[in-house]
Parts: sequence; structure tokens; C-alpha cells
Amino acid sequence: MTAPVALALDAPDLNTACAWANAVNGIFSHIKVGLETYLRDGAVGVAEIRAAAPDCALFLDLKIHDIPNTMAGAARSVAVLEPDILTVHAAAGEAGIGAVAEALPETRVAAVTVLTSLGTLDLAQLGVSGTPEQVVMRWARLAVSAGARAIVSSAQEVSTLRALLGADPLLITPGIRPAGADHADQQRVVTPADAISAGSGLLVVGRPVTAAAEPRAAAMDIATQAVQALRGVR
Ligand code: C5P
Repeated sequence: MTAPVALALDAPDLNTACAWANAVNGIFSHIKVGLETYLRDGAVGVAEIRAAAPDCALFLDLKIHDIPNTMAGAARSVAVLEPDILTVHAAAGEAGIGAVAEALPETRVAAVTVLTSLGTLDLAQLGVSGTPEQVVMRWARLAVSAGARAIVSSAQEVSTLRALLGADPLLITPGIRPAGADHADQQRVVTPADAISAGSGLLVVGRPVTAAAEPRAAAMDIATQAVQALRGVR
């Protein structure tokens, strides 16, 4: 079985992205293509990456945020890539999220709530009241009622989100580090097993694999930890 993990392909060039994607093929369920790669390599590059990892589903992390009509148009522009997951900003509001969900009914629209780089003061400066945790819950509920079928959040918020949102939405969590690994610039990290046990349905992992001396072996190790935790949860 492949593990419910997405490899974050934050790569400096297309060849590297393809090599990383190939290293997790058959091990991780998803490859995550973000703005760095998409803006440089475009849809043609994404197709090359997919060819390097034919067994992985595509998680397109474009964090779309605009007026509803433009968001729907942007979503239609990537329909040809058949993304399994496409991210939008929850801050775009109900109509924008709904427009993307309607434009790509086969794709799971994932809402990014409050960026983890923002604290309470940043939110206050923006005129948004409450702590980041309170805003995450408020926006997650709105996003799901608007048509999002997944929420991106810190693994530390997963159990509260699960209680709030019920069993359906996929909870996607970055900031995952295998036990004993280097945290790099991530402050609040969670192990694969703990994230799965808390209710995360898809882990996002980047550097623990891409910066490893043996990416495929590192991916196998993380996949094993995730699958073992999943068996414990079920
Ligand atoms: O290398 P690392 O495992 O830290 O990669 C994490 C990935 O998850 C990156 O693509 C990053 O943009 C993304 N991400 C994150 N924290 C968030 C949201 C997304 O690290 N709060």
C-alpha cells in the first residue's frame, strides 16, 4: 500500500523535481507541486513531473485567491492536469471557494486557512479578530460549507478540526518530521505517527526526503511510520 503522504516538490529546477518525484513513486500517495515549480515550469513541467511518478496523484498547491469568476477561470485552466487536490485561500470567501468547487467537481478543493507565518498581531493588523486558532476554526467551517473537501492546517489543530468538522473533510498537515530528524525552519513539528493518530488524512513532507542522502530510503521510512500508525487507528 502507498502511504497517505504528499512529497513537497520545492525544487530549484525541473530535473530535480522529476528525480524527487520518481524517488517516492509507489511509496507516497501524492506529489505536491507549488508555486515555485508551477510558475517556472508551467503545465508542461507538471506533466513531466507526473510522468516521473505515474503512481502518485497530483496535489496542486496554487493557493488560488481572487474574485470568484477569476478563481473559477484559474481552476478551469489547470483542469487538464486533473489534480486530485487543488488549494485555495479560505480568505477568498464562500463564493470564491464555491466557484472553484463547481468548476472542478472531480477535484478535492483544499482550503488553506490562516498561514502559520501569521500570529494574532498580524491578524489584528489585517482587521481580523481572534487568535490564529480561533480564525482557523471559523474559516475552516466556512470553507467546508462552501464546498471545500479538505483543510490544510498544522497537525496540532487536527483533533479540534476533526471534532468541529466531522469525519468527512480530508485534513492535510505539513510540518511533519520523523522522530529525531532535523526540524529545519519548521517550529511546531509533529511525527508522522502522531499526525495520523490525531486524525490527519494526508501528511505533507519535503526536506526530510528531498534533503536526505538517500531520498527513497527516507521516504520508505516515513511511509512505514505512517502506515503503521494508520493500522493502529483503524
Ligand atoms: O520541507 P518541509 O517538509 O518543511 O516542506 C513543507 C511543505 O509544506 C512546503 O511545501 C511548505 O510550503 C508547506 N507548508 C508548510 N507550512 C504550512 C503550509 C504549507 O510548511 N503552514
